[in-house]
Amino acid sequence: MTILDHNLIPESLDSYWMPFTPNRQFKEKPRFIVKARGMYYFDSNDHKVMDASAGLWCVNAGHYRTHINEAIRQQLEELDFAHSFNSGHPLAFQYAERLVQHFPAPLRHVFFTNSGSESVDTALKIAIAYHKVCGKGSKHRLIGREKGYHGMGFGGVSVGGLVKNRSSFGPLLPGVDHIRHTLDTKQNAFSRGLPAHGAELADDLQRLVDLHGADTIAAVIVEPVAGAGGVVMPPEGYLQRLREICTKNDILLIFDEVITGFGRLGASCAAERFGVTPDIMTTAKGITNATIPMGAVFVSDTIFDAFMAMPDPGVELNHGYTYSGHPLACAAAMATLDIYESEDLFTRARDLNDHWMDSALKLQQAPNVTDIRCLGFIGAIDLAARDGAPAARGMDVARRCYENGVWMRNIGDTLVLSPPLIITREEITQIFDTINEAIRACE
Ligand SMILES: Cc1ncc(COP(=O)(O)O)c(C=O)c1O
Repeated sequence: MTILDHNLIPESLDSYWMPFTPNRQFKEKPRFIVKARGMYYFDSNDHKVMDASAGLWCVNAGHYRTHINEAIRQQLEELDFAHSFNSGHPLAFQYAERLVQHFPAPLRHVFFTNSGSESVDTALKIAIAYHKVCGKGSKHRLIGREKGYHGMGFGGVSVGGLVKNRSSFGPLLPGVDHIRHTLDTKQNAFSRGLPAHGAELADDLQRLVDLHGADTIAAVIVEPVAGAGGVVMPPEGYLQRLREICTKNDILLIFDEVITGFGRLGASCAAERFGVTPDIMTTAKGITNATIPMGAVFVSDTIFDAFMAMPDPGVELNHGYTYSGHPLACAAAMATLDIYESEDLFTRARDLNDHWMDSALKLQQAPNVTDIRCLGFIGAIDLAARDGAPAARGMDVARRCYENGVWMRNIGDTLVLSPPLIITREEITQIFDTINEAIRACE
């Protein structure tokens, strides 16, 4: 049997229905990525581009980490797969014990999934089931936030706040409501780090409590820093206030840290960076440096203990996935953690934060830049839309940057940056210099 050369350009592109992609446009002018090393991707034209997005916010330790590759290879030799339904393999337990040491107490228990979407749906289900276990079965409403992105499972889409992701899929989950988003470009444009105005927007949760009754609400889920909704930072004091309202009303606070977990903000997670601890935290992406799909939902001792105290000694949570705690994923995750620890990657975005923010905010001088949001290794640059052609300028600038060696995503007219945490000062400068040139060239 021969191994296929995956780098050959395919003859037909018809069968593969690509996710979140205008398939017809892509297939008319396809772009193939064929290799990755460190901070860089190589496309099928042998063009080298810096990966300013860490894949999709996931290759936090950079590409082609031989330590991770080797760990996966060795695990394959030993145990390719064993399920975790009333069975177990040691690595999942060892990894869970080690993983929780890095995250704020009391989030000391993890439920493994295979993606961010599964982590979110798992977290929502745990929240509702927790209240039932505590004898409060009426608490089943879920609250999300406008502009929120929580993956594409039905639960995640229901609590999500992006109209394009919601509008094609019918009525979604019942009993879901949303608080207001916190993007305020009038008061907070060009904030250095967290915006000063808007903590009071957390009181919108109190409005929903007053509307629905605290005894009907299970949980509120927010991204501490919203990503796919265009990168929205939490105003100073906002998350603290959300926490207070949740605690007061016996509502679980879920932080969706699928993009902010694993070092993106210069700490293990946003909860640690901002000093606000949720009851449940969802993660994925950086957990395995994106080599093998995996996610982890962290829950507090209180939640875990409530399930473990159920009088019925049977299955405490009728939920799980065939690949929860997959041995290859655990091996990849363990090796990824080795790298995060040995290279101090969780604190790197903090060490280089001033240079990141200085470099980003310099773009304020460039034409058509209407806002910049930056913190840790996250950046967003809003460009004014061209008359009658929304997203055209964003697309042109991103395309020119790609041609000039830096690959980032544009969400409409917003350029979004989330590079691998191994990025150097010089590479940070290069990213923003490249954007600066492209913005001026694409006026
Ligand atoms: C905050 C957040 N939650 C959930 C998800 C979904 O993750 P996945 O695509 O792995 O299902 C994402 C993906 O970008 C995300 O940004």
